[in-house]
Amino acid sequence: MNYINLLTEEIARIQTANSYKFETAFSTPQAGTVTVKGKEVVMLASNNYLGMSNNPVVKKAAIEAIKEYGYGVASVRFICGTQTIHYELEKKISKFVGAEDTILFSSAFAANNAFFPALLNEQLSVETYRDVIYTDALNHASIIDGMRLCKTETLDKKIYRHNDVAQLEQMLEADKSAGYRFKIIATDGVFSMEGDHAHLAELVGLAKKYEALLFVDDCHAIGVVGKTGRGTPEKFGVLGSVDVLSGTLGKAIGGALGGYISGNKKLVEYLRQKARPYTFSNSLPPAIVKASIAAFDLLTKDTSIVKRLHTNTAYFRKEIKGIGFHILDGDHPIVPVMLGEASLAQEMSKALLKAGVYVKGLWFPVVPKGEARLRVQISAALSKKNIDDALTAFETVGKKLKVIS
Ligand SMILES: Cc1ncc(COP(=O)(O)O)c(C=O)c1O
Repeated sequence: MNYINLLTEEIARIQTANSYKFETAFSTPQAGTVTVKGKEVVMLASNNYLGMSNNPVVKKAAIEAIKEYGYGVASVRFICGTQTIHYELEKKISKFVGAEDTILFSSAFAANNAFFPALLNEQLSVETYRDVIYTDALNHASIIDGMRLCKTETLDKKIYRHNDVAQLEQMLEADKSAGYRFKIIATDGVFSMEGDHAHLAELVGLAKKYEALLFVDDCHAIGVVGKTGRGTPEKFGVLGSVDVLSGTLGKAIGGALGGYISGNKKLVEYLRQKARPYTFSNSLPPAIVKASIAAFDLLTKDTSIVKRLHTNTAYFRKEIKGIGFHILDGDHPIVPVMLGEASLAQEMSKALLKAGVYVKGLWFPVVPKGEARLRVQISAALSKKNIDDALTAFETVGKKLKVIS
């Protein structure tokens, strides 16, 4: 069969099943409000947690970097794609998250894809080996794909129920004398569909007790979670105790793109040799590197922006519940507003857009059947008026669609 025909059929099928995958084009930067088809709406769907996508200091740093260092580096890191600013950013991230060293990637997706095969596909010693990854059932696709890139002959993957630390401990206990070379516990720090946190203090304890390596993807936590935005480890009092942290520069930290892995100096040195997306893909352009440095500097100098995010989040969570909506409880700016049926989530998302709020619905297969939701994401870029306008729209639309009474 002609491949175009096959793709056309598949696209038609996807469009009916998963229409959330289709894109809206904006004509304004990410901010508290954006313009969609000429209409200004409150943005409640962006990872721009700190409003840094459109922060004048961050933008200026990017513009200056282009003037001083050029537009692109036209190379991978080890050939001629390393500028002094790449090391400067790596040092800055290490200091911020309390790690010995950091290695940059073109995205966190690439970082997660790099880490697992780099470590687990190598013989490293003359002894034969077998490794194991214990992975949370709700881990991000990039962790899942990272594991898929590992050789199946030498790796066991064990999925524990979401945040079920007791089940994870049973697995670790059962494997105590299995003779694994590396045991890795892999988890998101914050789960992007639920807005809940991994139980990091317990996980750090388990990793120590069972001599496992703890890998935490803190993409939705860097700049967001913890009093000073240092991420999930800060919130749970275990800064510096997570073996491997991956993160993104594409959300709170400027929102452009880029990712990193922070951890032990020797691990980072090893990854510079063995991480394939690092070795075989271009390094980050100067504008992103310098803007990310500026973003970390802003965060380090003044944590009021993080405080503002937390205040906005607490306010929205309290008020939306007060109106009568069912949300998943917590304290993260990801606020899932639970609706149940996919059709309702789609209808409500459309009606909210008309009422001046941009928010996306999520449904099966992204979340379990019957748990369709609107995923609200709060930002420090939102003014109180923006949030109040959004709440009014939620109330009006919610009543009209009989979600609330
Ligand atoms: C938990 C998590 N990990 C990794 C990523 C990938 O980040 P990046 O956009 O930097 O590739 C995302 C992005 O959605 C994410 O939510």
